Amino acid sequence: MATRTTLSDVYPLGSRLNEHGRLEVGGCDTIELASEFGTPAYVVAEDDLRSRARAFVRAGRDSGQEDFQVVFASKAFPCTAVLRVFAQEGLWCDVASGGELHLALAAGFSPERLVLHGNAKSQLELGMGLELGVGLIVVDNFDEIDRLEGLLAEHAGGVQPVLVRVTPNVWGETHEKISTGQADSKFGFGMAEAQEAIARVEAIPGLKLEGVHAHIGSQLLGLEPFRSEVAEVAKLGDFPVWDLGGGLGVRYTEEQPGPPSIEEYVSEMVSAVRAHGIGPDRRLLIEPGRALTANACVTLYTVESVKSNVSRWVAVDGGMSDNLRPMLYGAGYEAQVADRFGGDTSCVLAGKHCESGDVIVREALLADPKPGDVIVTPATGAYGYAMANNYNGVPRSPVIFCSRGDARVVLRRESFDDLTARDVAPEGIAPDVS
Ligand code: LLP
Repeated sequence: MATRTTLSDVYPLGSRLNEHGRLEVGGCDTIELASEFGTPAYVVAEDDLRSRARAFVRAGRDSGQEDFQVVFASKAFPCTAVLRVFAQEGLWCDVASGGELHLALAAGFSPERLVLHGNAKSQLELGMGLELGVGLIVVDNFDEIDRLEGLLAEHAGGVQPVLVRVTPNVWGETHEKISTGQADSKFGFGMAEAQEAIARVEAIPGLKLEGVHAHIGSQLLGLEPFRSEVAEVAKLGDFPVWDLGGGLGVRYTEEQPGPPSIEEYVSEMVSAVRAHGIGPDRRLLIEPGRALTANACVTLYTVESVKSNVSRWVAVDGGMSDNLRPMLYGAGYEAQVADRFGGDTSCVLAGKHCESGDVIVREALLADPKPGDVIVTPATGAYGYAMANNYNGVPRSPVIFCSRGDARVVLRRESFDDLTARDVAPEGIAPDVS
């Protein structure tokens, strides 16, 4: 019996169950969205994105730090329309590849607001950064410094501002695959090499050493590791710019403990910075990704089949091609039938892909799901679309923005023709044997 009438904060801000018991996101009825745009679909409450961006900006302004910049980690949701929202809200943007750089420019970010990351930046990517004059290039290793030096000889541009990325040997409590602050990490310079890296950058006339960067990990639900991070990086000296990375976690399910609020997180960062002698006149950057986008989005699926053996298997029209997180990190999600919240039938919510690991929610409680029902999984706005793929030739899902009752497709569904669009005929494909 579906009895539920209220929603947890796992859902996008402003979501509700309407008088028909159907989930509304951004004022749009999700059953109507599913029939108009098809499923699977990423449904984003645009006002939620804006509201979280504003909360970060406001918290920075209220923190007493004179120059506090919120840098959206575009890897969390690399969709032009999402980036455009954050460009409009005055954020900066973290790009970790030439492709993300391309998206950020298309979204309207000016190059001065871009921070170029990567532990294996190519010649092309470094050249793009220098040519455009991105706000900061975050150097990761000595080979990259050599390469930048070589490239500068060919570029007639001005002086390129640079940060040196370090791994402060701080562990945050999270999945090992998304922990980055440990000493034996593929990212950045070890603390023992940091001074040498700083000196190398300072010795190159075309580069300007602005400061240091660290990012200790992602989906962190406690603030203490961030404080330890600041304590470590502050030992490196005094710099005009400090980039402390991203990592603030989010709530994926109602049962999961909640993360600190945006305000608590920002105030903790600034108080840690101050405690270690970094003044209010220094530029402070943070790079949230997940905390800006995860809870702004839900994914809609349609049930294709229901069967019972040991478990009751509810198979939907998406899965590991639109959300790899359960399979990669064992990440927990919750699910509901979009017009019958509060069910009590114990089900395994499975995807349509050809492997047993393609399970979206291992223990879902659903209201007697049947083929044709629309299923919703909340909190899919971070690293869902970002890691989408075409496994089993499944076209990638559209992104639909909803705001005040209006829905618009900002990224269309891939077509079957898109799947063959990169074929190089006739040389690149097998001869016609018919
Ligand atoms: N800055 C840097 C340098 C990063 O490497 C990352 C994330 C961020 C900022 C943003 O972190 P966030 O605020 O989103 O935690 N695919 C994984 C997450 C990988 C995160 C990689 N780096 C997942 O689905 O959980």
